[in-house]
Amino acid sequence: MNTDLSKAEAASPIMTARNVDVFYGKKQAIDNVSLDIPENQITALIGPSGCGKSTFLRCFNRMNDTIEICKVTGDIQFAGQNIYDPKVDVVALRSRIGMVFQKANPFPKSIFDNVAYGPRIHGLSESKAHLEDIVITSLKRAGLYDEVSDRLDEPGTSLSGGQQQRLCIARAIAVDPQIILMDEPCSALDPIATAIIENLMDSMKEKYTIVIVTHSMQQAARVSQKTAFFHLGELVESGDTETIFTNPAKERTQNYISGRIG
Ligand SMILES: Nc1ncnc2c1ncn2[C@@H]1O[C@H](COP(=O)(O)OP(=O)(O)OP(=O)(O)O)[C@@H](O)[C@H]1O
Ligand SMILES: [Mg+2]
Repeated sequence: MNTDLSKAEAASPIMTARNVDVFYGKKQAIDNVSLDIPENQITALIGPSGCGKSTFLRCFNRMNDTIEICKVTGDIQFAGQNIYDPKVDVVALRSRIGMVFQKANPFPKSIFDNVAYGPRIHGLSESKAHLEDIVITSLKRAGLYDEVSDRLDEPGTSLSGGQQQRLCIARAIAVDPQIILMDEPCSALDPIATAIIENLMDSMKEKYTIVIVTHSMQQAARVSQKTAFFHLGELVESGDTETIFTNPAKERTQNYISGRIG
């Protein structure tokens, strides 16, 4: 029996978005989007430039709060709670729902301190040895430890682009999130570094739920179990990745995957 398939069928949503609208000032960027994010799977958000992929991704950990003119309405539930409820502690939310950006952005600190940063500010370690354990485990989970184990004191910025992106993944993992949001994490990387991160994502889904924005339909098809296709701020269609790419229900999806729009 195909275990991936049985898991896909059994998966329950860890996050649900209902009737989400996003405005930048008067301009509407997301129009009435509802989507479930299944646990322990990879969901890909695809669509042409400017369709709202990054905007929608940022709704999931309230990163849009950092953009003055941005207003989000609708209901996004995580662990049974509307994350836009004023009572929600946004810093704690972002440690449960981490984010990795297009351009690797290590802090101007050592490799060790980049990964130790989150556990330190959230008070997650009981001792120096425990902190070291968190850092090493996170670097291992991000597939970077073997490459950096003898130079943890060197600056994070001394690493290659692909290594820096894995360092950022390790930094996100270190605070033990449930969900990791990735906005075009490979777009600045060469094909080899991209393949390493794609393989890593596949192993990470055992423990984490991943939502990835990607420009690359090939990447979405390779890494994800679910795909959501956006166009002009609307969610046109979502479902099993294989169905979206081989037998989409909507003409707009068919036109996009066959290269007629975008
Ligand atoms: N900070 C902002 N202020 C004003 N408008 C914005 C802002 N960020 C995005 N937008 C607008 O919202 C719409 C959606 O942008 P978004 O960045 O979410 O698209 P995207 O699908 O991620 O595009 P790309 O593939 O180019 O990254 C666009 O029209 C964009 O110009
Ligand atoms: Mg974007």
